[in-house]
Amino acid sequence: MNKHISYKLSQLFVEDVAVSEITESLRTPFYVYSRTTIKDNFHRFKRSIEGFDGLICYSVKANSNLSVLETIAKLGGGADVVSLGEYKRALRAGVDPKKVVFSGVGKQDFEIAETLKSSLLQFNIESISELELINKVASGLNKQAPIAFRVNPDIDAGTHENISTGKADNKFGIPIINAKEIYEYASKLNGIKIVGVDVHIGSQISNLNAFRQTFENLVNLINDLKKLNIDLENIDIGGGLGIKYTDDDIEPDLQEYGTLVRQILGNLNCRIIFEPGRFIVGNSGILVTKVLYKKKSQNKNFLITDAGMNDFSRTALYGAAHRLIPLSKEKSGEAEFFDVVGPVCETTDTFLKNYLVEKAEEGDFLAFLDVGAYGAVLSSEYNTRPLVPEIMVYEKRYEMVRARPTYEEIFDKEVMPNWE
Ligand SMILES: Cc1ncc(COP(=O)(O)O)c(C=O)c1O
Repeated sequence: MNKHISYKLSQLFVEDVAVSEITESLRTPFYVYSRTTIKDNFHRFKRSIEGFDGLICYSVKANSNLSVLETIAKLGGGADVVSLGEYKRALRAGVDPKKVVFSGVGKQDFEIAETLKSSLLQFNIESISELELINKVASGLNKQAPIAFRVNPDIDAGTHENISTGKADNKFGIPIINAKEIYEYASKLNGIKIVGVDVHIGSQISNLNAFRQTFENLVNLINDLKKLNIDLENIDIGGGLGIKYTDDDIEPDLQEYGTLVRQILGNLNCRIIFEPGRFIVGNSGILVTKVLYKKKSQNKNFLITDAGMNDFSRTALYGAAHRLIPLSKEKSGEAEFFDVVGPVCETTDTFLKNYLVEKAEEGDFLAFLDVGAYGAVLSSEYNTRPLVPEIMVYEKRYEMVRARPTYEEIFDKEVMPNWE
């Protein structure tokens, strides 16, 4: 919980809105975000990187709702995108295209052409084949594409293997040991303008040592490139700062992170680009759900919620644990241990195992905490369950920022060919 998502008397509030007020008119499950939390997190991050030329390019994949992007754009933030769709979202929300970095291992020619035509800060290139495609597309448009190489430093970020990206056997980046020769090759291509270097070693990182080692490797590379007369303008150090989901998690010290960046990279005369995602939005969101049934099996108590793994899949994907709390603490009754599961026909549709739930009865509303990042963006319509609505709260106001589609809208996207 954070100070904008807390109990007032016995009711859960997001800023000045009682969440129970929303459940009166909107069927659960749904996400609720606190705009003030997003703004606070952005400002906190910005303060920690004061004293050098830094640009925050929010990682759109963490939560790409237009209302979130618009909040960040209004604070002067840029965007880290991984598809033309995310690029278009960012621009629609008011992000300056000159503050957009385009990451990802699978950029396609139409995506490269369209972003190049309407401008961007840099492509973060992940392979030689991609470099050659970008060179071809840019030359065809009589342009020079601004590029950085994403280097893979082969560093263990000490995080879940499914969210580690900086090890040699991950698919991301070019091996740092080959970077010099690849930069040299790129410097000879007419459609390419080298502007930077990029790295992102993983997500939900709590150990700053992995960052330290990575930054030191970058300094060595930048110095080697200088000797080849390749001077960089931008050092993009990715995202990855962890947040505290449960009492077992350790939150890295933000000030220490800022100091580390300043000490190691601050004197190189480059702009430092940051791509935080989870840090900006993670604790800003809750997923509100209703208890459908309590069920006893031979040796377990199950609490079946109306939210399922299609609405929130971090648990099924990474085994992530999220705290679950009641919307109202008014009820009396015993706390009980439950396996909290969704209604989807998969055993992995399990949110929490043997978890102490406070006084939950069938029909009660509960909230999963800290689901603002990698929550709604990863949802699907599996089991033909419509995508869940998203609500943004700002002080006393709230607004539906993504509506639940009707069944007709879902079916209208599909066709039954009129075949015998
Ligand atoms: C290239 C890149 N940048 C930034 C991020 C954001 O990471 P985080 O949400 O951990 O800050 C990711 C997440 O996977 C990423 O792949």
